[in-house]
Amino acid sequence: MKTHRSFCRAAGAAIAAVIMAGCSQSASASSTPGVEKTVIMQATDTHFLSDRLNDHGPLFQKFVAQGDGKDMEQSVQAAQALASQVLEEKPDVLVVSGDLTFNGEKASHEDFAKILASIEEEGVDVYVIPGNHDLDSTQAMSFSGEEYEPAESVSQEEFEEIYGDFGYSESDSRDPYSLSYAKKINDQIELIFLDANTPESPNRLKDGTLKWLQEQVDQANEEGLRIVSVTHQSLIEHNPLLSEGYTIANAEKALSILEQGDLIANLSGHLHTQNIAENEKGSLDLCPESLLDAPGRIATLTLEDHQANYQADPLDYIGFENAKELKEHQTDFFNQTSRDQMARRYEGNTQLEVLQDSFEKWNGAYFSGDLSGLSVEEAEKELWKSNGGFDGSYIESIFDQAGNQWIDREWTFQ
Ligand SMILES: [Fe+2]
Repeated sequence: MKTHRSFCRAAGAAIAAVIMAGCSQSASASSTPGVEKTVIMQATDTHFLSDRLNDHGPLFQKFVAQGDGKDMEQSVQAAQALASQVLEEKPDVLVVSGDLTFNGEKASHEDFAKILASIEEEGVDVYVIPGNHDLDSTQAMSFSGEEYEPAESVSQEEFEEIYGDFGYSESDSRDPYSLSYAKKINDQIELIFLDANTPESPNRLKDGTLKWLQEQVDQANEEGLRIVSVTHQSLIEHNPLLSEGYTIANAEKALSILEQGDLIANLSGHLHTQNIAENEKGSLDLCPESLLDAPGRIATLTLEDHQANYQADPLDYIGFENAKELKEHQTDFFNQTSRDQMARRYEGNTQLEVLQDSFEKWNGAYFSGDLSGLSVEEAEKELWKSNGGFDGSYIESIFDQAGNQWIDREWTFQ
């Protein structure tokens, strides 16, 4: 990343304050002209399940209660609420970075695309990329009463057709090897969407795609374009415990190519937790929370001059008469899922209730991206140490981050 900020971060701590002051000054006085105000909103992991496939009956309820906390019961309302929130803000573009559907159902893709069309009709350009749940899924199913049936999924070609208006038929360059593409959103900024979810090469960018990426970055440099890249799985590790499968296997290679350009940031997803990761070169990977995990954040990246401002706001269900109930349902469902996970894993443990209270508090705060109001007590540390296992390691990794938040950030770029 050819940013002045990267240079500043490499400077010694003793002179950091002086250098940083010089940084912001020289960035705004840089020989490269700054960018016009550009607002990019991002939602991810919307996991939309069409009501054509879902009677919200007993089997569906059982199925989602044993899930990971995303409120599938109201995935349709959440997508509609995303549309109303985006239209309230009226950004230049909306990016949806994969896992658009629950499990790749064709009907879900079709109905989700209709909601995206309602956003574009009001003048906001929408761009999407597939996630690991969206293509050729063997888990696509419909629910009815106590029964389920396999449902039709989509191929890469069908995905490209359904989302033609949301990237694929309007791109400036299409990668022939995957569903990656590039799109200039104005004379100064190019979005590069990288697809690491081809059925032949899951969680890895193909060699041909990396070659195509190099061409895009070279071209962007020639034209003096800044780059915002978009992936489903991240380009930088967010939590050492959640690395394999969460970060693209050959992410370092992709990032080293992107860093040859003026990369402002990578927008990712997949983790479902609101988080920001930074590498040693100062590159940023911004991951919004899944739209369906409470409070379901939507991120807004505002670029102006040489300044970037990132903010992730909760999903507000604007325009819904029962907005308060919908928000509460999302929170209560997430918290209950946390407690149920503990009940299943620590059945018979005399400290079950204390474990549930602790897990609900820390897991909820971590997903929402805000640990700023939390500190760890010795007794709680001991509790997880003595109970061990993956949950213990996971909660301890969150303890290490107590006091941090990843819901807003400001930085400068070249
Ligand atoms: Fe997801």
